[in-house]
Amino acid sequence: MSGENTLMGKVAVVTGGGRGIGRAIARQLAREGADVALCARTREETDAVAQELRQLGRRALAQSVDVSNWEQVQAFAGAVAGELGRVDVLVNNAGGGVERETPIAQSDPQRWWRAIEVNLQGTYLVTRAFLEHLNDGARLVNIGSGMGHEAPRGNNSSYNVAKAGVNMFTQALAVEVWERGILVNEVLPGLVANGLDPETKLEEARRRGAAPRFAPSERLKHPDRVAELVLWLATRGEDGPTGQTFSLARRPL
Ligand SMILES: NC(=O)c1ccc[n+]([C@@H]2O[C@H](COP(=O)([O-])OP(=O)(O)OC[C@H]3O[C@@H](n4cnc5c(N)ncnc54)[C@H](OP(=O)(O)O)[C@@H]3O)[C@@H](O)[C@H]2O)c1
Repeated sequence: MSGENTLMGKVAVVTGGGRGIGRAIARQLAREGADVALCARTREETDAVAQELRQLGRRALAQSVDVSNWEQVQAFAGAVAGELGRVDVLVNNAGGGVERETPIAQSDPQRWWRAIEVNLQGTYLVTRAFLEHLNDGARLVNIGSGMGHEAPRGNNSSYNVAKAGVNMFTQALAVEVWERGILVNEVLPGLVANGLDPETKLEEARRRGAAPRFAPSERLKHPDRVAELVLWLATRGEDGPTGQTFSLARRPL
């Protein structure tokens, strides 16, 4: 983006960095100079990304972590601080919809709660564990969702509620840490081709020309578009925004 390695010598942490949006963010931050720690449950995926980042000349650490597991999250934070040092950028990206198209009346209570554990409690636990390892002036980005700001089609309430919580967590945290110079913001990706092979998904979407019925103006985008916005937020100066939501959606939210 800048061509000047604006994150050279800095340490970034990306949860859910094994594929999709998180992998794109990890790559983008490393290209800008950051050493990167990433976690997810699937070890082979985070290992592959870490290997790629090392080939760019960066230090990279990958660990298998379920962000809803406090012990695993604490161990990850300790390993990052021990191996890479204090953290300058933390991206809470791990998450996703656990149940899809399920009306509340038919929902399974355990599956419903799981979306809260992964998306909201995970964001809290990772932040809680890393707060003591953050440099003053660090930048935090929470990956939220338009679904946390509206519920246009119903049948997705656990994810709606979890991501709405991420929005309020962003605001509450921003107020608590601004005196340390730490900026905390939320990014709404809009509709993004995710997984290990976003290019194929984009190609298919282009062929079908399909947009979701609930939001006909949405267009599937490459995860790199989200990574660019995260990089922008990660490189703001001390007068940068905090407690805000930045959206790449193509519908009013
Ligand atoms: N794609 C979209 O259109 C879209 C739109 C709005 C918001 N988002 C948000 O963007 C973020 C990234 O999603 P994505 O679309 O890139 O999905 P993805 O391709 O499925 O990637 C999700 C990543 O999160 C990790 N993850 C999931 N549950 C986890 C857990 N309990 N502990 C640790 N890591 C976990 C996954 O790895 P493992 O499964 O191996 O753990 C994977 O690395 C999510 O927060 C999602 O809600 C996506």
